[in-house]
Amino acid sequence: MGENAKWRIEDINFGAVDRSMVKADERLFYLLASSSFVEILSEVYSANLAEHYEGNLDAARWLKEVWQREEVRHGEALRAYVLAVWPEFDWEKSYSGFAEEYSRLCSMENLESSRALEMIARCVVETGTSTLYRCLHDSVEEPVLKKLLANIKTDEVRHYSRFKRLFIEHNSTDHQGFFPILRVIRERLLEIRGEDGYIAFKHAHLCRSENPENLEADWKKFRKSLNSLVLEHYPFRMAVEMLLSPVPVSPRIKKPVEGLLTGSAKFAVFGLSFLS
Ligand SMILES: [Fe+2]
Ligand SMILES: [Fe+2]
Repeated sequence: MGENAKWRIEDINFGAVDRSMVKADERLFYLLASSSFVEILSEVYSANLAEHYEGNLDAARWLKEVWQREEVRHGEALRAYVLAVWPEFDWEKSYSGFAEEYSRLCSMENLESSRALEMIARCVVETGTSTLYRCLHDSVEEPVLKKLLANIKTDEVRHYSRFKRLFIEHNSTDHQGFFPILRVIRERLLEIRGEDGYIAFKHAHLCRSENPENLEADWKKFRKSLNSLVLEHYPFRMAVEMLLSPVPVSPRIKKPVEGLLTGSAKFAVFGLSFLS
């Protein structure tokens, strides 16, 4: 089994899904459908990343032959799961609406001119996916989904580790320091809070809801429903440790900062859950 074949969709028995455990969970439907859209579309808007690393043959090969294929596999497996539980959902129609609107906003990703800093940006994205799938994995009971989310989560953590190694490799010549690294982390974190979640929800809602005109109210309800999931299952400490890991600071300073940021992030979400 090659590096890009840790697990295969064909090996997942979607016929064994216990639909009674998940069918009524609207929040889960929207999270899985949205994730399947974003993962599958990543092949289109990340196509220029491998070109950025053409001088590094090993990295370019890994990006094209392993990383991109695994991201698409995540999307395809999630799509198969969604359709196993909610076969009435018109995934293709919903996805094409999402892809059309999203592509208008983001034709191609803006890459950092420094190849070391671009790896930091990728580490932030992979931190987001690793922690999201870990959160979902810990929150679900249905066995087929739990196994699938465990597989995806493991892939995402491995992606993060590879991007971090590539950062170290490229930074031996780029020499990016504390402030540029922190700037990229901050900018990417702000982007994660951007519009793609709303666009994915909107197009899933259009094909799912009996009342598509209730989009705004249903989006608000969905966002609110995420608070309890995040407070109960989101791995804040893991997120902070992954984000700060490539930052060049002495471990004596890093440990207390990690504790402080973990506490602040939890407190912020806790506060938001009261305000929303
Ligand atoms: Fe992924
Ligand atoms: Fe990934």
